Amino acid sequence: MPSVNGLADIVAAETELSMVDGQRGRLVYRGYEAPALAKTRRFSEVAHLLWTGRLPDPSELRELETQLTEARTLPPEIVAILDALPPEVDMMSALRTAVSAIRPRQIWPPTIEDATRIAGMMPTIVAYRHAKVTGQTPVPPRLDLSHVANYLYMLNGRAPSEAHTRALEAYLILTIDHGLNASTFAGRVAASTQSDLSAALTAALAAMKGPLHGGAPSLVMDMLDEIGSRENAAPFLRAKLERGERLMGFGHRVYKTRDPRAEALRDIVIELTQADPWFDLAAHTETIALRLLEEYKPGRELYTNVEYWAAAILRTVEIPKPIYTATFSISRVVGWSAHVLEQAANNRLIRPQSTYVGPLPA
Ligand code: CMC
Repeated sequence: MPSVNGLADIVAAETELSMVDGQRGRLVYRGYEAPALAKTRRFSEVAHLLWTGRLPDPSELRELETQLTEARTLPPEIVAILDALPPEVDMMSALRTAVSAIRPRQIWPPTIEDATRIAGMMPTIVAYRHAKVTGQTPVPPRLDLSHVANYLYMLNGRAPSEAHTRALEAYLILTIDHGLNASTFAGRVAASTQSDLSAALTAALAAMKGPLHGGAPSLVMDMLDEIGSRENAAPFLRAKLERGERLMGFGHRVYKTRDPRAEALRDIVIELTQADPWFDLAAHTETIALRLLEEYKPGRELYTNVEYWAAAILRTVEIPKPIYTATFSISRVVGWSAHVLEQAANNRLIRPQSTYVGPLPA
């Protein structure tokens, strides 16, 4: 194991945005418990909290929602870029490419206005691209729906139920920020060079794509689809662990107890899908997985992470599997941009050192 060990436990920034307490299983956004915000607040309210440090009053909320809504209609050059990408280009690469082409109105320092504009555009980018690659006619955004309801509307072509909107909203709030995770760090590193907001978000999206970070929920779904039945859970998971493979949706670099986001999402899934046999399979599989992880990886403190129950929410609200990571990004873009603003407000180039362990010239 290299001595740098994935920078585990290294503190590389001070932030007022989110506190992740991995020992107690607690997540706080700017002084508020994240699960409580997820149960009571709208996505746009929590975005305002992260960007400005305060929950909005009614007129500030109206103003922010107007700006997010105005950004929903994509500029023609972004549509042209999406149309030019071959259908085999995966969703995260398409989203990254489109975001990289958005020109911020102000290059440096980054602004909340540009953060709002990009956050407002991202759901349309994802829905538009998804429609195109699946041979459907893209559904233009509806300006009378909320940020979250409109995303579901563009994907499914019909206005979502209140229950589905709330469930997805809770997921998006619970994933909006999470300390110095890999994508946020990547975004802050890019911002620290005084690169612009689109560039920093492009770096963050690149880090988000990988299966050890944002790519996990679709792999959780693949795993549950492969398991297929209650009886198959134990033999399937055991065989995976015997082969030295990881169980998707379990384990976390920071949480050494249950991930509070997983807990909150599980409650929401129970409310939404009580009678669904699929929930029974997911709950049963979770129990078996935790038991087997204890058997195969004793002392490693592996618990269910946010992605496990995120997969269940995304499935229930009918988000297609190929766009799970992009949906996570629609939420996390708020956290990334808040970190970029925070970095810019007190900037110093992030430039660590490496230890040379190669040979020296003879
Ligand atoms: N299944 C089986 N074994 C695991 C798992 C898992 N899901 N996670 C960790 N381990 C084992 C790992 O094999 C290692 O065992 P050993 O000591 O025998 O070598 C030990 O636990 C420590 O693992 P690690 O790789 O040093 O831990 P890490 O902190 O680098 O990894 C992780 C964290 C999330 C990448 C990892 O737990 C994992 O790969 N999980 C599965 C993928 C997943 O669910 N990702 C979503 C993470 S939550 C989303 C987010 O916040 O970004």
